Amino acid sequence: MSKITVIGTGYVGLVTGACFADLGNSVMCLDIDQKRIDGLHKGIMPIFEPGLEEIVERAYRAKRIDFTTDYPTALKAAEYVFIAVGTPSGDNGEADMQYVESAVKKIAETIDHSFILVDKSTVPVGTGDWIAKMLQDRFADSGIKFSIVSNPEFLREGTAISDFMRPDRVVLGSTDRAASNKIAELYESLRCPILITDIRTAEMIKYASNAFLAAKISFINEIANICDRVGANVIDVATGMGLDSRIGPKFLNAGIGWGGSCFPKDVKALVHIAQEYGTQPQLLQAVIEINKYQRKYVVHKLEEILGDLKGKRIGILGLAFKPDTDDMRESPAADIIKYLDQKGANISAYDPAAMELSKAILPKQVTLCENPYQVIEGADALLLATEWNEFKQLDFEKIYQLMHGHVILDGRNLWDPQNLTDLGFHYYGIGLGQYN
Ligand SMILES: NC(=O)c1ccc[n+]([C@@H]2O[C@H](COP(=O)([O-])OP(=O)(O)OC[C@H]3O[C@@H](n4cnc5c(N)ncnc54)[C@H](O)[C@@H]3O)[C@@H](O)[C@H]2O)c1
Repeated sequence: MSKITVIGTGYVGLVTGACFADLGNSVMCLDIDQKRIDGLHKGIMPIFEPGLEEIVERAYRAKRIDFTTDYPTALKAAEYVFIAVGTPSGDNGEADMQYVESAVKKIAETIDHSFILVDKSTVPVGTGDWIAKMLQDRFADSGIKFSIVSNPEFLREGTAISDFMRPDRVVLGSTDRAASNKIAELYESLRCPILITDIRTAEMIKYASNAFLAAKISFINEIANICDRVGANVIDVATGMGLDSRIGPKFLNAGIGWGGSCFPKDVKALVHIAQEYGTQPQLLQAVIEINKYQRKYVVHKLEEILGDLKGKRIGILGLAFKPDTDDMRESPAADIIKYLDQKGANISAYDPAAMELSKAILPKQVTLCENPYQVIEGADALLLATEWNEFKQLDFEKIYQLMHGHVILDGRNLWDPQNLTDLGFHYYGIGLGQYN
């Protein structure tokens, strides 16, 4: 049993803490947000993540996990200190490092014994060296030894627990091989490939991975837009491409674009890093531009179908940036709603998890509904923005009755076009040949 402290109880920190506790370790989770910590003591999860509540509860009952806002309490016995605080986008796309910096400073001020600091936050290349410098200054001549390991996190919101417990790989980067080996031991029971590198390489692997995945989606979206013009079907195109083992089938679903807390900020941060070091990341910039355009493309498409959108009622299903999360950060739906609102459309919307968070983000005049059918009542068009399972099996005969017009724009290519056409709808997808 190892003694682990996790700084930050967001998606990454809480999942990391809960999973390490579930694996039998003793975990202290620290956050500066008192409300979060109070809630966690009462079993209230600060984020929506399937399966998280159960494992937190189990570990809490077994006294393998606890929560605090107090750094001395959190660090008292820590052998391993994981940093999992946010690194949002700064004004120029760079990663805003203020939370990492303040966490490192607090650790440096507080800890009174040797430890390994593990960085799970996604941070610019060179951050490990920068942290080492801060700690060296503090611990010089103190007898306290420390090592730094970069351990980028690859979990996805919505499947975070299984991603943590069954990862494709664990990446560990450090100047201290023995420290990486110790962290590798924490993951040993997961029986996954563990790649040990130098610290800058580990930091780069995270950015390169996210940028590649974002590029794959932007690529297929650009192909979809061409399919729309030439009358080809992007789903079949992606299947045909994906069967090539050099390409693979994943992340080739055309739609309204990527969003969330990671891809947008990480691709921007990598662009910023590249420019800082004097190189021009042309592909990465195009990946971002294509993604921005895709949100406008959907609105143009609705205009092409419905004409002037002023006064038109548009029902939106799905608000979160992807299914199984309430995360609204950089959600394509939010941008699309903003553009539709600017064009004078009347919008109603529903999401199974993100209604609360949407209130603060969406224009006030958007009607937030309690179920999918309310969204559709009297609508001229229905736009599917997030492919929640709950939307797969809707009662389309009922929807047909409830709608005013019968236009469906399936922004995630989720539904069966033929089925909906047979029911009398005017069905449009993204890059779907005859259904454009
Ligand atoms: N969310 C994801 O899917 C995901 C996946 C992989 C990597 N990451 C990366 O992991 C990091 C954390 O992301 P997240 O989504 O968990 O963030 P989050 O915003 O959900 O949570 C961050 C938490 O850190 C806390 N915090 C901030 N400063 C603190 C401090 N000084 N001391 C203690 N707590 C502090 C905040 O109160 C918050 O609860 C980011 O760098 C992100 O890029 C996120």
